[in-house]
Amino acid sequence: MLDKIHSLLDEIENLRAQNAEELEALRIKYLSKKGSISVLMDNFRTVPADQKREVGMKLNQLKQIAQDKIKALKEEFENSNVQNTEIDLTRTSYPIPLGARHPLSIVKEEINDIFKRLGFSIAEGPEIEDDWHVFSALNFADDHPARDMQDTFFIQSDPQVVLRTHTSSVQTRVMQNTKPPIRIICPGRVYRNEAISYRAHCFFHQVEALYIDKDVSFVDLRQALLFFAKEMFGEDTKIRLRPSYFPFTEPSAEMDISCNICGGTGCPFCKHTGWVEILGCGMIDPNVLENCGIDSKVYSGYALGMGIERITNLKYQVKDLRMFSENDVSFLEQFQNAH
Ligand code: DAH
Repeated sequence: MLDKIHSLLDEIENLRAQNAEELEALRIKYLSKKGSISVLMDNFRTVPADQKREVGMKLNQLKQIAQDKIKALKEEFENSNVQNTEIDLTRTSYPIPLGARHPLSIVKEEINDIFKRLGFSIAEGPEIEDDWHVFSALNFADDHPARDMQDTFFIQSDPQVVLRTHTSSVQTRVMQNTKPPIRIICPGRVYRNEAISYRAHCFFHQVEALYIDKDVSFVDLRQALLFFAKEMFGEDTKIRLRPSYFPFTEPSAEMDISCNICGGTGCPFCKHTGWVEILGCGMIDPNVLENCGIDSKVYSGYALGMGIERITNLKYQVKDLRMFSENDVSFLEQFQNAH
């Protein structure tokens, strides 16, 4: 028995392992249940009583040495592994470029937030619409030029299905389904059959606002517009309303703000007028309220609509509309710090 122990000690002294598999094979060979050291342990009972003390001590030593050796081998090849694959733990991590929100999303969120502070909530509607929601309900006469093939993408003729040309169609849906008071904004994409150039695109984005209640007046509209202009473009911003025409509002107006580039003194951006146009608005025509099932003798309201691209142009001086849909990284990454 003692001889066997000594020869195993020699063997274990010289063990080598290159990888995890070889190491595991050694562990099984010596230390598993049927391994050679365990077999010696099992045979310990047959050792004569007077040798039991010495053999027992040696056996325990052998087991301990084998365990230590296997552990040491493991550490050895794990360390050498690191060297072999040349992992440089001091290297900085691979640079992953930060994304940025799209400028139109940034501005849309800002518009939404301003109107939310006035108590408006967000409503959405379909981009593929029927003629009634986009035009008829909103008081567009059958021969109104906006229905012309040059403006509208027609998808189907009977019943007529179109790509919405403005987000005012969401107003129609909300008015049909909601009992006043109504206070909503409708952000969304719209489509027009335009030749693509630096100042026109076949799709763009609008935000529409609608407020209907008892006794809503033009003063309420003007107050909301002034609040919006100051929040969006700064406390010193002035507004002016010019009479205009939209089929669904009466009276109608277009709103200019004092040029946010020169502060109103005149510059090439505002064509030296000191003013830039930003949106259309007006008091909702009673016909529109009645078309959507709202009693125009009890309720009145205002509506306004603006292009998000237009507001973004003013905020960030993006002169070419096409930049917004070109996915040019060098353009988009400039908005990483915008909020
Ligand atoms: N829908 C109009 C357009 O696309 C914009 C607009 C003007 C919306 C006046 C309104 C409004 O709600 O009152 O040109």
